Amino acid sequence: MASSSTTRPTVVLTGATSGIGEHTAHLLATEGARLIIHGPQPPRGQTSLLDRLGQMGAHDVHYLQADFDRLAAADTLAGHIADLTDRVDVLINNAGRPGPPTRQLTGDGNERTLQTNYLAPVLLTARLTPLLRTAHGRVVHVSSATHLTASLDVDDLTLHRTPYSPAGAYSRSKLALVAHARWLTDQAPEPRFDAVSVHPGVIRTPLLHAMFPIEGDPPPRGAHHVVQAALATGAWNGQYLDEDTPARPNPLALDAHWRNRLMRHTFRLLPHDPSHAP
Ligand SMILES: NC(=O)c1ccc[n+]([C@@H]2O[C@H](COP(=O)([O-])OP(=O)(O)OC[C@H]3O[C@@H](n4cnc5c(N)ncnc54)[C@H](OP(=O)(O)O)[C@@H]3O)[C@@H](O)[C@H]2O)c1
Repeated sequence: MASSSTTRPTVVLTGATSGIGEHTAHLLATEGARLIIHGPQPPRGQTSLLDRLGQMGAHDVHYLQADFDRLAAADTLAGHIADLTDRVDVLINNAGRPGPPTRQLTGDGNERTLQTNYLAPVLLTARLTPLLRTAHGRVVHVSSATHLTASLDVDDLTLHRTPYSPAGAYSRSKLALVAHARWLTDQAPEPRFDAVSVHPGVIRTPLLHAMFPIEGDPPPRGAHHVVQAALATGAWNGQYLDEDTPARPNPLALDAHWRNRLMRHTFRLLPHDPSHAP
């Protein structure tokens, strides 16, 4: 498990209520991890998931609710995580949504897909940075191979001028996520933590079927790739993984100038300086 000095690493996993995230939680439970899992649904509906994870071997499991349609919810989530632990060995930003049929703005004024898939994970990661640094931990951004053909105008992150399509909004959010993982490895102050992004595979989930007429592989396959990315201690830092193999990302993500511009515009969309401790 990533850089943990303990035998029971603490893993924060977003989007654990369905699909790849739920199966990732299963695999991590069998590893005996201490799990802080997240979903947008109220905790009362998660009892059976929590019971199952305990039975599978999770050392300790907590469920926290946050709907990333509100950036304040991601901020509050970070605070609740900090109430539960003083270290995060692995943060897996897995929660994601397909692009809605037409362009929608959240109450924060952001394009909805970008906010859930990118802005909220960036905010959460920034707020958990002290806990990741304490653990010399690892951030895993669950991205998508759709990012490979995306383009993203950093001056138009709300897609005001850019022609909108659901898959286009989705792939742009995933391109931004790949670039952010890379930017983190450039920027992270000592003590450092690792960051990787991973395409988990083409996986049979509600998200896939909302956008693409493809059946996909079973969710445990995607979960296996996410857990591999999380557990590869010291390996693959800064890399984009296609399933279990380092691969060349979209060239924009390799362009340091573009990444820095993206991050400048990104921070303008976040509610306040997210780097202060929760
Ligand atoms: N499936 C694929 O082929 C594929 C390929 C590449 C990348 N991915 C990525 O894999 C990740 C997991 O997706 P999946 O395919 O497993 O889809 P999924 O089954 O639909 O799971 C998505 C998870 O994100 C949560 N979520 C959705 N909207 C949210 C919001 N507004 N706030 C907080 N959480 C929210 C969902 O919660 P509820 O279900 O409880 O609403 C669920 O737990 C995503 O980042 C996705 O982009 C998937």
